[in-house]
Amino acid sequence: MDVYAVVGRSSVEQIEAGVYHYEPNGHALTYITKKDVRDRVAKASLSQMWMAHAPLNIVITAEYSRITVKYKERGIRYAMIEAGHIAQNLFLQAEALGLKASIVGAFHDNELIEILKIPRTHEPLLIMPIGYAA
Ligand SMILES: Cc1cc2nc3c(=O)[nH]c(=O)nc-3n(C[C@H](O)[C@H](O)[C@H](O)COP(=O)(O)O)c2cc1C
Repeated sequence: MDVYAVVGRSSVEQIEAGVYHYEPNGHALTYITKKDVRDRVAKASLSQMWMAHAPLNIVITAEYSRITVKYKERGIRYAMIEAGHIAQNLFLQAEALGLKASIVGAFHDNELIEILKIPRTHEPLLIMPIGYAA
């Protein structure tokens, strides 16, 4: 699994706008692009433009080969279960921080891959817009 953060301009304290990849080793973020791409992400999500108002959109992807090498075809099921676990933890953490999170499964995979510069071997599974309640 991989996790990407789409951060808006003047949206998240101490983090500039852009797309970041989460690095579990070291609990760090690495830059992918420095642009605010929330509008593009929302358009790629069947124009659910409400998503662009969230300061942060988190994208969860899977690279199936990492798990199917061990579990074969069944590994795909495990990756999807894991995506649900990650999303649920993000919901819990958002709630603990007084934030609101939502879940978006409706998007054009190829458009999202293009915008976020996700490796072609990864499949985006979920987008989670996160922010304060309106
Ligand atoms: C995997 C998944 C994908 C979803 N994708 C979208 C989406 O693209 N757009 C949207 O507005 N809601 C999406 N939802 C949210 C649901 O439509 C629904 O609002 C949400 O599950 C809350 O359910 P409730 O209204 O019964 O509380 C998704 C939910 C899940 C579980």
